[in-house]
Amino acid sequence: LSNSLSFLSIMVRKFVVGGNWKMNGDKATIDGIVGFLNAGAPYNNVEVIVSPPAPYLLYAKEKLNEGVLVAAQNCYKVAKGAFTGEQSPAMLKDIGLKWVIIGHSERRHVFGESDSLTAEKTQHAIAEGLSVIFCVGEKLEEREAGHTKDVNFRQLQALVDLKVDWSKVVIAYEPVWAIGTGKVASPAQADEVHKWIREFLAQKASPEVAEQTRIIYGGSVTADNCVELGKLGDIDGFLVGGASLKPDFVKIINARN
Ligand code: PGA
Repeated sequence: LSNSLSFLSIMVRKFVVGGNWKMNGDKATIDGIVGFLNAGAPYNNVEVIVSPPAPYLLYAKEKLNEGVLVAAQNCYKVAKGAFTGEQSPAMLKDIGLKWVIIGHSERRHVFGESDSLTAEKTQHAIAEGLSVIFCVGEKLEEREAGHTKDVNFRQLQALVDLKVDWSKVVIAYEPVWAIGTGKVASPAQADEVHKWIREFLAQKASPEVAEQTRIIYGGSVTADNCVELGKLGDIDGFLVGGASLKPDFVKIINARN
């Protein structure tokens, strides 16, 4: 029974693979990335979402096959105003985007964004009609101190408190110690946290939300480790940084195919 249940869950939750380009690329390198992404399209049974730096969102969107969606890497919590350097969900929608990444560990830890700001931004983006890749994850010292569950739950609780529409959220579990380090979480480590997050959703939202919400893994995902991770029933895709800039990204997109 549990095997057929996990098969059913896989059917309910479409696999989704995001490419987070971070602050990398110029027009020439983006042309190269667009080239291999378009060559690999159409992608079946998987949603593909790439996230260029803000100045290139429209440039990339106009060149990509329409089956490859584009997400911004960040947005602010209000529609407009005196917030120099920020961009609003309304603006992202205006240029035809449907997705935004919020709460990436670099936003949290390099730019000091709090749990509450991250949640408010998510709430506003959803209210404006965007879907959100909402990132959570513990730092190495938090894992070593036995706080992995608490930290991930605390980051998610901020969203629960604002009663967001979970059908607009993809949760990305990205342990900070695995991001950009080449130190991928083991399948067992990732699986454990994904299961905790699903239980958390069942308790704090509803069993349906837990069943339907996609929880993707990020942190040193490569063409070499994606197949094993992608076999796990509670891993519904990936958020990929470094490897999303290279042609191997197409193999990661197809990890489950
Ligand atoms: P990485 O980054 O794949 O380069 O580890 C993942 C991320 O930051 O989303």
